[in-house]
Amino acid sequence: MSASGKTFYLETFGCQMNAHDSEKVIGTLLREGYTQVETEADAGLILYNTCSIRDKAEQKVFHRLNDGKSLYKQGKRFAVLGCVAQQEGERIFERAPHVSLVSGSASYRRLPEMLARLEADEKRITGLDDRQTEETFETEFTARGNPHRGYITIIEGCDKFCAYCVVPYTRGKERSRTVASVLAEAQAMAAAGYTDVQLLGQNVNSWRDPAGQLTFADLLRAVGAIPGLRRVRFTTSHPRDFTPEIVRAIDEVPTLCDHVHLPVQSGSTRILAAMQREYTREWYLERIGWIRAAQRPISLTSDIIVGFPGETEGDFEDTLSLLDAAQFDAIFAFKYSPRPNTPALTLADSVPEEVKMERLQRLNERQREIQKCNYQSAVGQIVEVMVEGNNAARGQVIGRSSQNKTVNFTVDSPIFPASGTYLPVRITQAFPNSLVGIADPAAVSSNSEAQACLL
Ligand code: SAH
Ligand code: SF4
Ligand code: F3S
Repeated sequence: MSASGKTFYLETFGCQMNAHDSEKVIGTLLREGYTQVETEADAGLILYNTCSIRDKAEQKVFHRLNDGKSLYKQGKRFAVLGCVAQQEGERIFERAPHVSLVSGSASYRRLPEMLARLEADEKRITGLDDRQTEETFETEFTARGNPHRGYITIIEGCDKFCAYCVVPYTRGKERSRTVASVLAEAQAMAAAGYTDVQLLGQNVNSWRDPAGQLTFADLLRAVGAIPGLRRVRFTTSHPRDFTPEIVRAIDEVPTLCDHVHLPVQSGSTRILAAMQREYTREWYLERIGWIRAAQRPISLTSDIIVGFPGETEGDFEDTLSLLDAAQFDAIFAFKYSPRPNTPALTLADSVPEEVKMERLQRLNERQREIQKCNYQSAVGQIVEVMVEGNNAARGQVIGRSSQNKTVNFTVDSPIFPASGTYLPVRITQAFPNSLVGIADPAAVSSNSEAQACLL
């Protein structure tokens, strides 16, 4: 790689944690004198920030690497970051010999040093974690892609070791950021004009104050009180660490959004035990009860895995009936994918692929019916929408409600409102995944807190 042409291309796979890590990695690269380019063809350094949550995600990365082989001869260098990097480690150099750098997320603090070695044309540079590090990756140079909404990682890693999941092996042990550093980052974002922040963690509500002073709900309240912030979200919550105090905070702090993402994974207590989730169906539904008893209309979403080893038709029907009981506004449903290192790999009684497919389809169909009904109930309400963009061809503005629902709406003006604007919108139509409405300037004067937080 020539020193004059320090250009990079970075592509991200996987979850929001990865998306935000990429913003931090980009900030670090810019700081080190690199310039970001839009295509691999223009780049001296090609980075993939990878995901290994399911086999398909992992395979995608190796296909991309395979496609890039010939580019190495043109002098381009490759770096593999993220969860596949941590999981496969040095094996990546065997499978893709044109890769020069492999680093898991727990080693990103060392990126400047690793980049210097890369520039010296060193081969086989690694940053691999042994689940020992206490460090979190914080940088003031985070290159956020959106000027209004942004992520803040508050906790990294996972200590829960669910039987099917790679994350404890790819992200290192659980480590929480200090209150001071989280608040400083949120305050800096508010000062820079951000109004919508999302606190992130593999299990965001497993955050523990390193100083032992605040609870997660206290932290939510503290971030929610920062002047200038209008919407504070947090994801992903784990049922085991979900407390009534979190619901109280949402009820009492207007800036906290009306949305909780609380993955259940299965509606069968037997399967939950095999998954090592350490809660039962009833225990999960009790938490749903707390959320449903709130004064605010808190929207609930979840993740579900079908076809975990040993899942019978009866177990699956328990999951279907849990959908009816929980009334989620959205689910992310996945077929179980056997993953390296995980205890579930050794379980017998795997569910055939066609059964997994059929269950996934039935699950999504049942959920679609639930959403049709749930979304329909919003028709006639006025909701506050943050503008995210527009679809000029359809004459519609695109935005998001506090409940994190997509709202497509029209405005009585030839000019579209700017991204980041908040507008009251009267909902006129509902689809299973989105709402349609009309901006309602008349609602501004009567736009009480309660109305603003309806959806
Ligand atoms: N920490 C969160 C989930 C993070 S992973 C929690 O525990 O709730 C995101 C989602 O990917 C999980 O909720 C799960 O539904 C899915 N997932 C994880 N491992 C999987 C696997 N081996 N096969 C299929 N889906 C998986
Ligand atoms: Fe994976 Fe379980 Fe940790 Fe969630 S809690 S990241 S599913 S091991
Ligand atoms: Fe994927 Fe790693 Fe996120 S496995 S889902 S990128 S934590």
